[in-house]
Amino acid sequence: WASATQLDAALLAPPALPQTLAAAPSTPPELRPGSSSPDSMDYDRLNSPSTSAITLELMGHRLHISQDPNSKHLGTTVWDASMVFAKFLEKNSRKGRFCPSKLKGKRAIELGAGCGLAGLGMALLGCDVVTTDQVEVLPLLMRNVERNKSWIAQSNPDSGSFGSVTVAELDWGNKEHIRAVEPPFDYIIGTDVVYSEHLLQPLLETIIALSGPKTKVLVCDFPAQVVLFHPCKGL
Ligand SMILES: C[S@@+](CC[C@H](N)C(=O)[O-])C[C@H]1O[C@@H](n2cnc3c(N)ncnc32)[C@H](O)[C@@H]1O
Repeated sequence: WASATQLDAALLAPPALPQTLAAAPSTPPELRPGSSSPDSMDYDRLNSPSTSAITLELMGHRLHISQDPNSKHLGTTVWDASMVFAKFLEKNSRKGRFCPSKLKGKRAIELGAGCGLAGLGMALLGCDVVTTDQVEVLPLLMRNVERNKSWIAQSNPDSGSFGSVTVAELDWGNKEHIRAVEPPFDYIIGTDVVYSEHLLQPLLETIIALSGPKTKVLVCDFPAQVVLFHPCKGL
């Protein structure tokens, strides 16, 4: 990873979360306190090991994201960071660099998308998004993307602000997968993708391979912040 001085990094404070959102799980299901005992669960939570779908109001749309938090794959859970990121976009969409007039038609790619919430957020702001993950996660990701696209189109047929979302397999470091998505991108996004040391090298290589001189990278981890940097400056 580049040093802090090489990164044109801006720390962008996340929005205050509603109570239900703040209580969403941030650890794998098997490690969550009370995961084996439904009686001890707080039923006011937006998300829990027994939640199979999450409904989130975002930029005037109601998104429904299916998940399977009890599967062994991390990508089938909607992680806190993706909800923080989506709400961050909403909060910053009225003016500045995240308003739809600035993002309309920009190409964005989501790495390690899981259930796809963050990529849908970028598409709601007008981006043309390629949302990607490992092959095991793609069926659920495709289902979430297709259903939400069709709900958004039905509920607001005149909305010209929605960009587009397509789904692609992208295993970090896989040159064929990277070539197939046709870099460079204007934005590369990832939520809760920095969690394991051995994945950092392929993740960074992938970010650099997907980048051009003007690419911006947005990474969000919870309970940290949204970090924006330009990978090509100083590298
Ligand atoms: C903790 S989950 C976060 C999922 C989603 N971004 C979210 O915030 O809800 C980490 C994601 O990274 C993906 N991932 C892990 N290793 C990967 C790799 N080598 N290539 C591509 N994706 C990977 C997983 O499949 C998973 O979807």
